[in-house]
Amino acid sequence: MQVSVWRGKADGAFQEFEVPRHVSQTVLDAVTHIQRSLDSTLAYRFACRVGMCGSCAMTVNGVARWTCRTHVDKVVKNDQMEIAPLRNLPVIRDLVTDMSEFFDKWAKAKGKFEGGLTRNDDFARVSSESENRKQVDAGIECIGCAVCYSSCDVVSWNPDYLGPAALNRAWTLVKDERDSRKIERLRAVAGDAGCHSCHTHMSCTEHCPKQISPTAGIAGLKREVSLAVLRGAF
Ligand code: SF4
Ligand code: SF4
Ligand code: FES
Repeated sequence: MQVSVWRGKADGAFQEFEVPRHVSQTVLDAVTHIQRSLDSTLAYRFACRVGMCGSCAMTVNGVARWTCRTHVDKVVKNDQMEIAPLRNLPVIRDLVTDMSEFFDKWAKAKGKFEGGLTRNDDFARVSSESENRKQVDAGIECIGCAVCYSSCDVVSWNPDYLGPAALNRAWTLVKDERDSRKIERLRAVAGDAGCHSCHTHMSCTEHCPKQISPTAGIAGLKREVSLAVLRGAF
C-alpha cells in the first residue's frame, strides 16, 4: 500500500512510502516498518503496543486514533493511507507532538488529587455504592492520550480552552468524595477557557478510544458550577 507520512515540523510535507500488507497489521506496524526498513530518521512515539499508554496516537486518514489498536484493514482506502501528527498540538518532528500544553492544562484545571487527611488518619474509602463514584466510572479510565483534545474544534479556535481531557479529569475529582478542593477546582474550570466554552458537539466523545464521554463530564461541571454559584459558594 501507499502510505503518506508527515515529515518535518508544522511547515513540513507528506512523504510517500510503499509498505507491504500483512494479516492483522496495525497502523503502528506500518509506521514501524517505514522507520526500521525504509527511513530510520522517521520520528514517532509508542510504548506499550496494547492500548494502555496512549503514546502512539496519531491522525490516520484525518481521524485521531491509537495506531497500535487500529488495524490497517479498517482505515485503508484504495490501498492508501495518510498518517499525520495529532492536531491541536505543536509538532516536534514528523509524527511526534509536544504534549506540554496538554498536560499544563490538566494542572490549570487543578487535575491533581488533594486529600484532606493526614498520615495519622485511617485510609479514606469510597463505597462501591457511592452515586458520585458511579458517575465517574468511565471517566477515571482516561489514559491521557490526547485523541479527544486533538479532535476538539474549540481547542483549534481557542488555544486557551482547557479541552476535554483536562475537564474530564476535573470532573472525576469534583466527584471524588476524598478530595478537599472542590470549590477551587470549580473556580478553575468556570472561567472563559473552561467548561462553558464547550459547544457540546461530541467530537471528543465520538473519538475517545476508551468510550469515555468528556462531553457528559463537562455538562456535569457546568451543573456543579451553577449550583455552587446559586449556593453562594464562589
Ligand atoms: S463536546 Fe466540548 S470538549 Fe468535546 S469536542 Fe465538542 S467542544 Fe470539544
Ligand atoms: S478522554 Fe479518552 S481520548 Fe481523551 S485523553 Fe482520555 S482516554 Fe484519551
Ligand atoms: S503504544 Fe501504548 S496505546 Fe498504543
